[in-house]
Amino acid sequence: MKIFIDTADPEEIRKYHDLGIIDGVTTNPTLATKVGRPYKEIVQEILAMVDGPVSLEVLGTAYDDIMREAHGLAALHKNVVVKVPMIPDGIKAVSHLSKEGIKTNVTLVFSPTQALLAAKVGATYVSPFVGRVDDISADGMELIAEIREIFDNGGYETNILSASDRTPRHVALAAMYGADVATVKPENIGKMFRHPLTDIGLEQFIKDFMESGQEALV
Ligand code: E4P
Repeated sequence: MKIFIDTADPEEIRKYHDLGIIDGVTTNPTLATKVGRPYKEIVQEILAMVDGPVSLEVLGTAYDDIMREAHGLAALHKNVVVKVPMIPDGIKAVSHLSKEGIKTNVTLVFSPTQALLAAKVGATYVSPFVGRVDDISADGMELIAEIREIFDNGGYETNILSASDRTPRHVALAAMYGADVATVKPENIGKMFRHPLTDIGLEQFIKDFMESGQEALV
C-alpha cells in the first residue's frame, strides 16, 4: 500500500519526504488555508519536492467550472491529480477528464455506491473518508472492505485511497482491508514510528554495550 501525506504544508511534507516514505500528497481547501502562506506558492513548492501524485481540489461545483479548474490544475504539473467532489456534476466531469487522460481523485466518498459511480467513470482514485464515518459511530473500515469487494468483482482499476485518518491504526487497517493508498496526517505518520518498547529496547542495547567495555566494530 502506498502512503500519501495529507497536508498542504511543505515543511511537514519535507520532514517525512526526506525519510523516503512518502509516495504522494493529498490536499483539500481546508488544509490549504492552514499553512498561512499563499496557496500558489506552497503548491509550487510541493510539486517541485515530491515526485508522485499530488491531489489538488477544485472549488467549483458546476460542471463547466469544474472542467475549467481541472484543466488549469492539470496544466500545472504532470503529477497533479484533480480532486473532484462526489456530486453529479463532479462525476460528469470525471467521465470527461478520464477520456482526456487527466488523473482524478473523487473526494468526500462515504458509501460503496458513491465509490462505484466514481469507478464507472474511470476515476484514478476514490477517497472514502474513514475517520468521518467513524466520527458518526459507523464503520469506516467496513466501507473500505465493501469498496474493495465491489472493485475486485467488477474489475475496476480505480485506486482506493483511504482518507480522513484519525489514528495510526487506521493506516494498518487500511492496508489489511486492501486499500491501495492511505493518506495520513503528519502527526499520525509520526506516531507510526513510535513504540515505547522500541525506545526502551534501544536504550538498553546501547547501555549494555557501552558498560561492557567492548570495542565497537566500526
Ligand atoms: C483527504 O483527501 C481528505 O481531504 C482528508 O483526509 C480529510 O480529513 P479530515 O476528515 O480529518 O478532515
